[in-house]
Amino acid sequence: MTEQAEIRDGRMDDMAAVRSLLVETWHDTYDDLIGPGKVRQITDKWHSEDILARQVEMTDACFLVAEAPDAGIVGHAFAYPDGEGVFLSRLYVRPTAQGCGLGAQLLGDLTRRFPDVQQIHLEVEVNNVRAKTFYERHGFSVTGRVEHCGDEVGVPAFVMEKSFQSAG
Ligand SMILES: CC(C)(COP(=O)(O)OP(=O)(O)OC[C@H]1O[C@@H](n2cnc3c(N)ncnc32)[C@H](O)[C@@H]1OP(=O)(O)O)[C@@H](O)C(=O)NCCC(=O)NCCS
Repeated sequence: MTEQAEIRDGRMDDMAAVRSLLVETWHDTYDDLIGPGKVRQITDKWHSEDILARQVEMTDACFLVAEAPDAGIVGHAFAYPDGEGVFLSRLYVRPTAQGCGLGAQLLGDLTRRFPDVQQIHLEVEVNNVRAKTFYERHGFSVTGRVEHCGDEVGVPAFVMEKSFQSAG
């Protein structure tokens, strides 16, 4: 359990901590599902500090971190506009901080950053039941399936989507 975390925009000097969060949380989540070797290969490819640094500078994207006074960066979310909607590329909470509402807070803050969005979509690994249930509780439903999550061969995923009514 961590003290109350503050959610804020990511900064360039957060990149090492965000990578560390992603590596730890990926191993915790996916080692049993796709194997630790594959996890290492993917996190090295997708979550290098260089790639994260390019993403934090994307002006149309939202790169959030949750920072706790006693534990540093304990959560992270990244999303960007994609076609008609927004693609939620990552939502990760450190294992020791999960189940305390941080994932819900990050998702809520991120959604508010895109007030005119028609829909948010994401891909979730088919055996990641906890995350799929989390998204369903937050109004997402499965709209399809891809065999190569994020173009990663042999990692099938559900496509999930949440639609928003326009206010007018
Ligand atoms: C999926 C994930 C982002 C959700 O974040 P989280 O902070 O754990 O989510 P929340 O705490 O908001 O809600 C999750 C659970 O805690 C419960 N919860 C919410 N607020 C709570 C609180 N204040 N106290 C206790 N439990 C709470 C919810 O009922 C929910 O129950 P569940 O364990 O049956 O799912 C997080 O668990 C995670 O990073 N998982 C591993 C990585 C992953 O799979 N990411 C998604 C990739 S697509």
